[in-house]
Amino acid sequence: MGLLRACADAVLLGVGTLRATPGHQWTPEHIYPDRAESFAELRNDLERKPRPRLVLVTASGDVPVSHPAVISGATIVTTAAGARGLAGRLPDSCDVLEVGDSGPVDIRRALDELRGLGLGVILTEGGPHLMGELAKHGLLDDAFITISPVLAGRDGRDGETRLGMIAGAELLPGRGVWTELRSARRHGDFLFLRYGVKKA
Ligand SMILES: NC(=O)c1ccc[n+]([C@@H]2O[C@H](COP(=O)([O-])OP(=O)(O)OC[C@H]3O[C@@H](n4cnc5c(N)ncnc54)[C@H](OP(=O)(O)O)[C@@H]3O)[C@@H](O)[C@H]2O)c1
Repeated sequence: MGLLRACADAVLLGVGTLRATPGHQWTPEHIYPDRAESFAELRNDLERKPRPRLVLVTASGDVPVSHPAVISGATIVTTAAGARGLAGRLPDSCDVLEVGDSGPVDIRRALDELRGLGLGVILTEGGPHLMGELAKHGLLDDAFITISPVLAGRDGRDGETRLGMIAGAELLPGRGVWTELRSARRHGDFLFLRYGVKKA
């Protein structure tokens, strides 16, 4: 995860993931502080800026503005309606990219505009609803999946259901996103898998 972040111009998240993860910073060194210097060297060699830009997608504009990752600086992708809800609330380190007037953001258009701002390599860490938007519009290139040696289960009690990798998008039978395994690495009992998405 640290390496993926180290290679990215931007880390793209739905704001639900930010809301669910207080105190996190979406930087390589937050994952693995001991390697902060190596990550910085790698970013320099790749001609990346010192840290990946955090990009948050929201329709509602309900961004927790005191979250440390927002204070460190983020680009908020929203509509004109969402931007009105954010007016005057964001720290100076943030900017807003408006895409459309209201409702969900047209994610394809948003990615085009982000690339136009020089954010060529975009790593998304989801969450599930944003991942669903990206998958159903054919906007994923690679998927990095970790298999951990634990069975988690879910019972849906208390109205809380831990979501899977994709939510809000039904892909099978007609719109399955097919992938091919590009690499598999093992560290102890963990498997780190890289899949390339086959383009239709
Ligand atoms: N295991 C993992 O690797 C992993 C990774 C990430 C997240 N998670 C977990 O996933 C859970 C959160 O799930 P989630 O599905 O709510 O996360 P999410 O996809 O990050 O956030 C969903 C929110 O993102 C915004 N959004 C997504 N697509 C949009 C679009 N096209 N236009 C406008 N806004 C859009 C909406 O925000 P508004 O409501 O503000 O409009 C939506 O409610 C958390 O428990 C988190 O810990 C797990």
